[in-house]
Amino acid sequence: MSHHIDKKTGRYKTNSLLIHGKFLTKKWDFSHHVIPPMSTSVTYRLDSIERAAKGFNNFANPAVFGHRTPDPIYIYERLDEPVRGMLEDNLAFAEEGDCAITFASGMAAVSAAIGIFIRAGDEVISHRTVYGCTYSLFSNWYPRYNIKVHFTDLTKIENIQKHLSPRTRVIYFETPTNPTMELIDIKAIVELVRQINKKRKKENRIYTVVDNTFATPFCQRPLTLGVDVVLHSLTKNIGGFGTDVGGAVISREEFESPIMLYRKDFGGQLASKTAWTIYVYGLPTLSLRLKRQQESASKIVEFLQNQKFVEYVRYPGIKGTRDYEIARRQMIDFDGNFAPGNMLAFKIAGNPE
Ligand SMILES: Cc1ncc(COP(=O)(O)O)c(C=O)c1O
Repeated sequence: MSHHIDKKTGRYKTNSLLIHGKFLTKKWDFSHHVIPPMSTSVTYRLDSIERAAKGFNNFANPAVFGHRTPDPIYIYERLDEPVRGMLEDNLAFAEEGDCAITFASGMAAVSAAIGIFIRAGDEVISHRTVYGCTYSLFSNWYPRYNIKVHFTDLTKIENIQKHLSPRTRVIYFETPTNPTMELIDIKAIVELVRQINKKRKKENRIYTVVDNTFATPFCQRPLTLGVDVVLHSLTKNIGGFGTDVGGAVISREEFESPIMLYRKDFGGQLASKTAWTIYVYGLPTLSLRLKRQQESASKIVEFLQNQKFVEYVRYPGIKGTRDYEIARRQMIDFDGNFAPGNMLAFKIAGNPE
């Protein structure tokens, strides 16, 4: 250590302090910031063996759920980090879940949300239409790990029974689906799975996992309808500005620990700088943006419905359709209003060359 000390002053040399100094300042008062500082530390001072031991013991420990507050002990960014933690608290609040764990992308969130439940030999029942890379994950990668995915039409829930096996572990769907805008009746699926689970041991339970990216928590909160795990590509509606890629898994308390451990070991954590952007700009503007985009979507639907070149338009707000009836039950905004969302699909008439 002695070469770090200036012989004349007896103090640490400037260069040493610039590297190893305790960057404490009275100018940094984290708890009173309205907008959080952009904290970007990878490692954290543990100060003492005792505090370090407590930090490692508390991490992802279900016995100390809510460990981020009031006295979080941060160790290493991949494990936990304050700005990401603040975003996670607000995402959990928006989705009415107990906890949210963020990821580097929506696909990392898809992988984790299913990954905590499945092992080799297990089976997943998925709606036949899902986001392209989710489809690729299910059909190109899962077979390598001996995980079978049955793609079926979950708009007809009787199809679940057709593919059910003792190894079925997860029912997976998006609603509305990307890109076809089909709606799946969340409550009907949850009810059916509840009935099936009554006859199963805990280790054979089936879990419902919903990708809520298209609807966002503004329009739909599947956890309140009994779904086990919700996930998002934060890259889309929640990030909102097309500047950042991210994902999140939101769930009940019992799944916080496995999801945190999954992220710790598989990686794919959300960068704190990205968390900051989504926390400061994305989530606070969600309602405002969605309300306005919903108005625009209705006008675009009306326009498209009157065009000869359009064979059909699919949007949850179109009265007289099956989707509308489902949407009326499950797409409700934070204030209790019908919220069919900002996404629509349409088919151009004829056969494209
Ligand atoms: C419904 C849905 N889920 C998941 C993803 C994947 O998200 P990301 O691109 O953030 O990995 C997307 C991306 O388009 C999506 O639309």
